[in-house]
Amino acid sequence: MKLQEIPEKLRRLRSDYGLKVLLHPEVVRNYLLHEKEKTEKPVVMSSVPWAIEIEMTNRCNLACTQCFRSKGLKPYRLGDMDPANYRQILDQFPSAALIVLNGFGEPMMYPHFFDIVEYTHKARPWAKIGIYTNGMLIDDEKARKMMDCGLTEVSISIDAARPETYRKVRRGGKLDVLHENIRRLIRIKRETKARFPHVGVNFVMVNDNEGELVPFIEQAREMGVDYVNCISMATWDWGFGNRRFEASYRAELTAARKRLDELGMACKSFPGDSFGWADPRRTFDCNFFWGENFRVTYDGNITLGCCTPFAETFTYGNLLDQPFSEIWNNDLFRRNREMAKRGEPPVSACASCDAFCKRFFTAPQIGTG
Ligand SMILES: C[S@@+](CC[C@H](N)C(=O)[O-])C[C@H]1O[C@@H](n2cnc3c(N)ncnc32)[C@H](O)[C@@H]1O
Ligand code: SF4
Ligand code: SF4
Repeated sequence: MKLQEIPEKLRRLRSDYGLKVLLHPEVVRNYLLHEKEKTEKPVVMSSVPWAIEIEMTNRCNLACTQCFRSKGLKPYRLGDMDPANYRQILDQFPSAALIVLNGFGEPMMYPHFFDIVEYTHKARPWAKIGIYTNGMLIDDEKARKMMDCGLTEVSISIDAARPETYRKVRRGGKLDVLHENIRRLIRIKRETKARFPHVGVNFVMVNDNEGELVPFIEQAREMGVDYVNCISMATWDWGFGNRRFEASYRAELTAARKRLDELGMACKSFPGDSFGWADPRRTFDCNFFWGENFRVTYDGNITLGCCTPFAETFTYGNLLDQPFSEIWNNDLFRRNREMAKRGEPPVSACASCDAFCKRFFTAPQIGTG
């Protein structure tokens, strides 16, 4: 971590966790070691991921065009996390400071969702607990349950400013219903004076929503959300036809940044901030093999971030069969880290990962998974 980044990191820490995390020295020690190891990239890790995404369900009520689960890649099983299995999985991450309770499905469809949030909050009172949700199912009852239940962040995916675009991209949803759900959630938060959750909205940039990012930001402001996430679409080798070109990204993002500044709106995620632009001269630098975007499926498998979303196609191991300590430095993880350090794409998805390492775009695909 650079010295000049510390004030901003502390400000975020305070707003997200209320500094409770500082009362747990082991969590802080692991966090700092993990940040260091992500830079040094050892083949055998001593720290464990501090941020984990655990999938509650991979069932969904929508079929968005950009989503991997709509691509019919390979048959994958649908299912829900067994609460007993969840407890067994969470126990293996005593130092987790950020726990995201979704994967490739809609967390609001999961019947034990609020029990799991409550359990997680009791077990890890210092942790930030977040979800991404399509928001279509956040009715009055769910909105009230969300207040101060332990959930720190609710990021609602919209991807559009116009109802026609929304219908096209987020197939099965309705923008007016979603906007009303968001307004009600914010109204209830104000009425109950709840501190959490912070409520944000997401916009994944695809061809169909070109030109709608600035109006989306203005609508977000009008609804009173706490932050926006602007996200570039990840494509890999799965045949997404809706991908934008860089010039389109750059023009729209420049206008969006200007509007965000004018409105004084917080933006948690902005393409280019964290990964940089695709650049053929860029050397391979992906932290996923060192635990960034660490992800567990509803049935306990460790996949590679969201780049290999289904255990049927790739897994480092299953946390219900083997302890995390054995999987984290197993042969496959170590081989992948060695390859990544040599600049070779460790799994087939990396060979065409245009989001982060374009120099592999034309390289032959090498599958190890
Ligand atoms: C996979 S969804 C799961 C949670 C929930 N169903 C939702 O839509 O928010 C999580 C986030 O990933 C985003 N997403 C889906 N496909 C993507 C892609 N190809 N590139 C980038 N983000 C994507 C979604 O738009 C959403 O914001
Ligand atoms: S709502 Fe979320 S999980 Fe469902 S298809 Fe859309 S992006 Fe994928
Ligand atoms: S597909 Fe891209 S982001 Fe995913 S692990 Fe490979 S290089 Fe990293």
